[in-house]
Amino acid sequence: MTTPVIVSSAAQLRELTQSWREKGQSIGFVPTMGSLHEGHLALVEAAASETDRVVVSIFVNPLQFGAGEDFDRYPRSLTQDALALSTTSADAIFAPSVEEIYPDGPGATPTQSSGPVGLLFEGLSRPGHFDGMLTVVARLCDLVGPDRAYFGQKDAQQLFLIRHMVKQEGLPLEVVSVPTIRGVDRLALSSRNAFLSAEEHQRALAIPRALEIARGCSSADQARAQARSYVESAPGVEVDYLEIVDPETFEPCAPGTNPREGLMIVAATIGATRLIDNQVLAFGQ
Ligand code: PAJ
Repeated sequence: MTTPVIVSSAAQLRELTQSWREKGQSIGFVPTMGSLHEGHLALVEAAASETDRVVVSIFVNPLQFGAGEDFDRYPRSLTQDALALSTTSADAIFAPSVEEIYPDGPGATPTQSSGPVGLLFEGLSRPGHFDGMLTVVARLCDLVGPDRAYFGQKDAQQLFLIRHMVKQEGLPLEVVSVPTIRGVDRLALSSRNAFLSAEEHQRALAIPRALEIARGCSSADQARAQARSYVESAPGVEVDYLEIVDPETFEPCAPGTNPREGLMIVAATIGATRLIDNQVLAFGQ
């Protein structure tokens, strides 16, 4: 365990990473938007177990929030985050200003395109979200220069698109995915859970329960039907989508087809809070 150094400029960051590289040390990178929880910390520990040095970025990226989304109310807590990271093996926190990342300001144009998969599911509900997300991930990776970058399976479509971008652009780093960390009640940890009232939190449990129901099913059609019926009848839960996609392409599995494996993805709004979750499903043939 170390107390991580906090840097806010790209120049300071470069100095630090250069000194590590000169010693032949590898760098693991964990991009975050802060308000850290055990899910983020699991990414940090995964990075620390595989690389010599770990950089965690904390940056609430304006480019990935749409008009009317929760950019302004997104929780920001650098002091608390630094404290949480002091219990991990993180070496540095990169907490840049918007100007450091986007010299043209928060109205900068995305430099990355998320393509057709970026228009599905989260992309359909949040136009421009994935282009903005990929733009900041590319920019941050360029500044940090990691050997490996760590992302959560919790944001499955994001992970899919990052893998695709890294491959397409030939970025010199390995993308590593880390399993979803859940609370004792099975709700996936998320910074947005802080917005839920106690009652809304109870209602949100319909999401992991629907995924559990799907896990017990023997076909994709049955899993989709039963999970949908459960979550759609849950009080106070507004389902945005619940689908089974092919994990290799992120395209929906057509009804009637019988895949061996599928990824169930779900998004739902509880009160004013939108949550996402997913689960890999294996079906007997
Ligand atoms: P953020 O929501 O802060 O998440 C940062 C990383 O933590 C992502 O890779 C996300 O998948 C992972 N994560 C979140 N909850 C998790 C959980 N319960 N278990 C395991 N991992 C979890 O995702 C973003 O920020 C941003 O889009 C970002 C990639 C930083 C670009 O701005």
